[in-house]
Amino acid sequence: MQVNIFHDNSTATFTYVVVDESTKKCGIIDSVLDYDQFSATVSYANADKIITFVKENQLETEWILETHVHADHITAAHYLQEQLGGKIAMGSGIKHVLEYWVPKFEVAADTPQDGSQYDVLFDEGDTFNIGNLPVTVWHTPGHTPACASYLIENSIFVGDTIFAPHLGTARCDFPGGSAKQLFDTVKRFYTLADETIVYLGHDYPKPGDEPMAATTIGESRQHNRQIQTETELEEFVSKREARDNSLAVPKLLLPALQANMRNGQFGAPSDQGQQFIKIPVNVL
Ligand SMILES: [Fe+2]
Repeated sequence: MQVNIFHDNSTATFTYVVVDESTKKCGIIDSVLDYDQFSATVSYANADKIITFVKENQLETEWILETHVHADHITAAHYLQEQLGGKIAMGSGIKHVLEYWVPKFEVAADTPQDGSQYDVLFDEGDTFNIGNLPVTVWHTPGHTPACASYLIENSIFVGDTIFAPHLGTARCDFPGGSAKQLFDTVKRFYTLADETIVYLGHDYPKPGDEPMAATTIGESRQHNRQIQTETELEEFVSKREARDNSLAVPKLLLPALQANMRNGQFGAPSDQGQQFIKIPVNVL
């Protein structure tokens, strides 16, 4: 397995292109569509970097994988699929996210609530292949009910669950989030071997520092600032909830959620062919 790491500075997001060298097939995990919130302008620099990489290396895109519905950036899944092919997949917990948010945004006309906008919905324990690489899906809720992690050989791609040891864990205060569930998720990660490489969803480096894409289970178990091997449930939940109470709403939350529920599309065009983002007032 070859893991190629891309980082979007503006949303601090990692995208991974996982390559099976024996077949040159790849899976793209958690892509980014560039979006300027003030001008509502979409651009493609980050996604095009992935497309160039895939084409230059003559890879065949088999999977476009989401770890969850992101609240801090818009996914490029749909754009990548148009350009590269591949199946878009997401954890089946997405149905809970859709049930909550589709009525809130009143977008049922162009956003299926049954998850049929995804090519594949994974349940806990499902397996699939990237080329000859076997992948096992873990349902890893806590940050959102839809979170899925992908275990491939000695590596696990965890999305927003644990972060780098100096950061701790992802927030759990979105609808359907649960600090208790995140505790169980992380303790489950800690049953993996210490050497297991943990590929992270984000890092927020200080200016001038390099972002940290990966840690190991052993490092996290010993040094994660919020949850280590010995950490008890009550302690984690009270600290996580206290921290969440101090966090601002992510600046792209409303555009990101509604576009991401359609794989990064902005909904059915109007009679004039214009697409819109709906910002419901006083729903949060
Ligand atoms: Fe997230």
